[in-house]
Amino acid sequence: MTVTIKNAAQIEKMRIAGRLAADVLEMIGPHVQAGTSTDELDQICHDYIVNTQQAIPAPLNYHGFPKSICTSVNEVVCHGIPSDRKILKNGDIINIDITVIKDGVHGDTSKMFHIGKPLQHAERLVKITQECLYKAIEIVRPGATLGDIGHVIQQHAEANYYSVVREYCGHGIGEIFHEEPQVLHYGKKGAGMVLKEGMTFTIEPMLNAGKRHVKLDVKDGWTVTTKDKRLSAQWEHTMLVTKDGVEIFTARPDEPFYRG
Ligand code: MF3
Ligand code: CO
Ligand code: CO
Repeated sequence: MTVTIKNAAQIEKMRIAGRLAADVLEMIGPHVQAGTSTDELDQICHDYIVNTQQAIPAPLNYHGFPKSICTSVNEVVCHGIPSDRKILKNGDIINIDITVIKDGVHGDTSKMFHIGKPLQHAERLVKITQECLYKAIEIVRPGATLGDIGHVIQQHAEANYYSVVREYCGHGIGEIFHEEPQVLHYGKKGAGMVLKEGMTFTIEPMLNAGKRHVKLDVKDGWTVTTKDKRLSAQWEHTMLVTKDGVEIFTARPDEPFYRG
């Protein structure tokens, strides 16, 4: 068990990397439209990260991942690979997951988009998943436990008749993309590691409309889908445990915890 506590210099760098990742999601919003391919979204994000932000898209070549962002449409749970054959259409939902490296540290965040007018059942899944992330963020502070985080997410998901994906989790983050601890999105109150000031990690719940079980595409080695082919949604932020609560490094201006 080696959970790192970040110092002030590392935290300041992570603030910047987090803001850049958030900016990419804001930038790409107007491009997320029917008729656009997920590969076009990848190219736009790649160019923006590399040329405008002078940062590095962390997914590119990460354990062999072939693109700069993850694009997960409808029944894709996570790690969808952008493709010129995947054209967005009205009624789709998509998670876009951005991780940038700036000055040696990572910022990791994702959000859902609706293509065209949201379908009611999709809109409800997307909203409840975001609420799960927000409810988890609300309880982060020194003394809370990882189990508390998992519990609040699982509780809200299941109260709304959704299931929580177990195979993928949030993670410590900093100089390393995925470090300890693992942040499970299910669990028991009071269980697990106690949070301490200076810890940095992501919370990134994946909720399924149907059963929790997932399937990995053995052909591409990355794409994770629901086994039952029903919809899945995910939202993610990178955060710091502060003296008396939490700071969200990847907050966007439209979010309640945005600090400017
Ligand atoms: N951004 C993802 C996460 O939240 C990880 C993507 S790894 C990749 O942890 F290789 F698929 F890009
Ligand atoms: Co992550
Ligand atoms: Co991510």
